[in-house]
Amino acid sequence: MNQKFYSIAIDGPSGAGKSSLAKKISAAYHFLYLDTGAIYRTVGLAAYRAGIDRQSEEELSSILPGLKIEIRYDDTGLQRMFLNGEDVSEAIRMPEISLCASDVSALPVCRAYLLEMQRRFAREYNVIVDGRDIGTVVLPDADLKIYLTASSEERAKRRLLELEQKGIKTTFDEVLKDIEQRDYQDTHRDIAPLRKAEDAVEVDTSHLDREQSFEALCNLIESRLPVKREETA
Ligand code: DC
Repeated sequence: MNQKFYSIAIDGPSGAGKSSLAKKISAAYHFLYLDTGAIYRTVGLAAYRAGIDRQSEEELSSILPGLKIEIRYDDTGLQRMFLNGEDVSEAIRMPEISLCASDVSALPVCRAYLLEMQRRFAREYNVIVDGRDIGTVVLPDADLKIYLTASSEERAKRRLLELEQKGIKTTFDEVLKDIEQRDYQDTHRDIAPLRKAEDAVEVDTSHLDREQSFEALCNLIESRLPVKREETA
């Protein structure tokens, strides 16, 4: 008998709070959380280390067959990324890797290479998947599609805080510039550009704190899916 698995897609620009909210939701509803940006970042890191032209379809194609990209989950349910056996979960978060990820993610060969890896999770588990094209391309039949957004200034503020907490030194202007550049690249690329799926519900978190955003998403989920939140102590 085929078991029905539920899938929730969360798309939106970088820094809108997708990953921290998706993590919290996955714990509250016992869904598996798949951070697809981390997969693109892993390819971006591989391209960076190989020193190739990251906007070249040919050059990226030449290294892809030699890459072993694995997604594993630790005991706490956190996703870890492995590149040829090395845990690169921290390395892929470096600011310089963000743009590399955005570059490689614009190449059709990269998106095709990663598509099946992402879909497999939704066939095998209840999932909450975040990214840019989850509701439009990867999981067009997702049970719930959320488009999470916030102003670029607000997103830069949050990202700066996150980086500071990790001990990564940068400035507000740098982070804002990076966010605006990535927004532009991610929404203007020819293939699978970031856009709201027609049947997605848009949630703007510019004026919501994390708890309010979480509540808004939980209300949406419970109005659409037959799932109940695990009450935390
Ligand atoms: O979510 P993130 O910032 O970690 O994503 C890194 C880059 O990967 C981002 O610039 C766009 C790209 N990306 C994508 O094209 N499609 C996805 N599903 C997820 C991320």
